[in-house]
Amino acid sequence: MRYNRLVPAALEHLLDDLNPPQREAVTAGDGPLLVLAGAGSGKTRVIAYRIAHVLGARGVSPRNVLAVTFTNKAAEEMARRVESLLAPVGLRAPLIATFHSACVRVLRQHIQHLGW
Ligand SMILES: Nc1ncnc2c1ncn2[C@@H]1O[C@H](COP(=O)(O)OP(=O)(O)O)[C@@H](O)[C@H]1O
Ligand SMILES: [Mg+2]
Repeated sequence: MRYNRLVPAALEHLLDDLNPPQREAVTAGDGPLLVLAGAGSGKTRVIAYRIAHVLGARGVSPRNVLAVTFTNKAAEEMARRVESLLAPVGLRAPLIATFHSACVRVLRQHIQHLGW
């Protein structure tokens, strides 16, 4: 994958923090991707780095990225990790929330389209 010219210098070294399977998952192109690995093996790191890579290296807008988790604890952890990658280079983080929280947000914003 080639970095575009807008890539902040700090993100050029993003992939150095990953082992080869993690790097493969973080840089995989479009389409669905399933990561299956044991506890503590670095899955959450893959997701956080994939978000940073998609925003920083592929130039995707944070508006077009959504990260959903099951628990609040996982959402907080993910948001913290993504923020620590993006904040130093001045990139805005996408919405990272539990699926309950993400869905209620969509309902609140667009409830009128349900015709009630
Ligand atoms: N390639 C790596 N190099 C160094 N530390 C890593 C690497 N991958 C994961 N870690 C660290 O190992 C710990 C467990 O990783 P994590 O992504 O939380 O695993 P999982 O989500 O699979 O349980 C975390 O502290 C994480 O930062
Ligand atoms: Mg995890």
